Amino acid sequence: MTDKLIIFDTTLRDGEQSPGASMTRDEKLRIARQLERLKVDVIEAGFAASSNGDFEAVQAIANAIKDSTICSLSRANDRDISRAAEALKGANSARIHTFIATSPLHMEKKLRMSPEQVLEQAKQSVRFARNLVGDIEFSPEDGYRSEMDFLCRVIEAVIAEGATTINVPDTVGYAVPELYGNFIKTLRERVPNSDKAIWSVHCHNDLGMAVANSLAGVKIGGARQVECTINGLGERAGNCSLEEIVMAVKTRKDYFDLSMGIDTKQILAASRMVSQTTGFVVQPNKAVVGANAFAHASGIHQDGVLKARDTYEIMRAEDVGWSANKIVLGKLSGRNAFKQRLEDLGVQMNSEADTNTAFAKFKELADRKSEIFDEDILALVSEESLIAENEQFAFVSLSQHSETGERPHASVVFTLAGKEVRGDAHGNGPVDASLKAIESHVKSGAEMVLYSVNAISGSTESQGEVTVRLQNSGRVVNGVGSDPDIVVASAKAYLSALNKLQSKSDRVAAQG
Ligand code: KIV
Ligand code: ZN
Repeated sequence: MTDKLIIFDTTLRDGEQSPGASMTRDEKLRIARQLERLKVDVIEAGFAASSNGDFEAVQAIANAIKDSTICSLSRANDRDISRAAEALKGANSARIHTFIATSPLHMEKKLRMSPEQVLEQAKQSVRFARNLVGDIEFSPEDGYRSEMDFLCRVIEAVIAEGATTINVPDTVGYAVPELYGNFIKTLRERVPNSDKAIWSVHCHNDLGMAVANSLAGVKIGGARQVECTINGLGERAGNCSLEEIVMAVKTRKDYFDLSMGIDTKQILAASRMVSQTTGFVVQPNKAVVGANAFAHASGIHQDGVLKARDTYEIMRAEDVGWSANKIVLGKLSGRNAFKQRLEDLGVQMNSEADTNTAFAKFKELADRKSEIFDEDILALVSEESLIAENEQFAFVSLSQHSETGERPHASVVFTLAGKEVRGDAHGNGPVDASLKAIESHVKSGAEMVLYSVNAISGSTESQGEVTVRLQNSGRVVNGVGSDPDIVVASAKAYLSALNKLQSKSDRVAAQG
């Protein structure tokens, strides 16, 4: 019988640890709903003890999501574990994921604990967690750089205490595929009770090998759970990418011979949602979800694909959510067509009122742009959700003047805590003038660390999607805005980033 590969998504926990990728509770909930539509087996919703904001996010997701197991990370101590259990109370199926570092370097320099103390704490915390929740995952942090004998002792002990999943992280992305695969295999062979737990892989991408290492952990090592994130989001070079691992296992079923529960048609919607929410743009040549992933530019390739698709295509674009006909709607499209398109794209609005507002925005856009693409719709609904939840600042209107030889000037009208205000400023260009106009009122003092513009659907008629990354008092946030006018998109992105700076949430780092 074909084994099942469990897909454990950690976009909302490890992905969110990426500087600038922090998300609000409502953004996380929206992504969790999409992960449920994608049919991931486990959603790691956050690290409940790290901040009140994260606690509330885990709690909201546990209450709302019914088809996936909801998991919270927790350090190996009673307080963290109790907070995780508390946040997970409403879940249909709950998991606590507890971890402690086991590599000599981490134990000595970071934890300042002896190996015996670490072993005791690992056992004690799994025992404690097991009394609160039945499904317990244990991770020896920096597991891949740990000593084999010691790691075997720790893992044997935590399985004996009741851990049901053993996850072996390559925390720093140091592994190479064959060695990592053999590492998992050796552990499974040497730990006497290894058959009592499911083995899981968790690889970081510092050397660009997270997906390859995870696949080796599955194929050589016999792991049956993969931890991954949408778009490979995550600290430094990121985590193993969900879309790549899923499509590799599906496309090469002949080799891996594993089944998965994933609805791959929801992959693109998930990718767009995560990218638009975090402002982390997907590179055009990214496997599976990049804009060029299925584009054949050379004449020879186009000719081949027209004659027989499989000459150059190993996957079908439709299978991961790219629609065959990309022009979807226009000015004359009605509400039902709009709703149907949202459904096809896997977008579920939270209420009828949200659908109406999104439809009004769609009509507004259709008046200015003759062809509305899937990407436009996804940008529009994502922007909708951002505006709805962060009321402090909202864009109203903008006018700007620029002429060769003159210093550009902009006037921006926006609401500040419900009251309309207007800022005026000159700048180096119209975008600079507009953002200075906003700052003339807000005086946030934030430093801009990134500004990027991306044409949503490729032509000059397309909407510009702008990402602004701001830093203030140690916090880094991203704001995203879209509009056919890139100056307006920039002002929206800036206001969205300011909104996020307002919602303060200090959290402890999972690997701190
Ligand atoms: O990379 C890592 O070690 C982690 C653990 C906390 C599981 O993310
Ligand atoms: Zn990690």
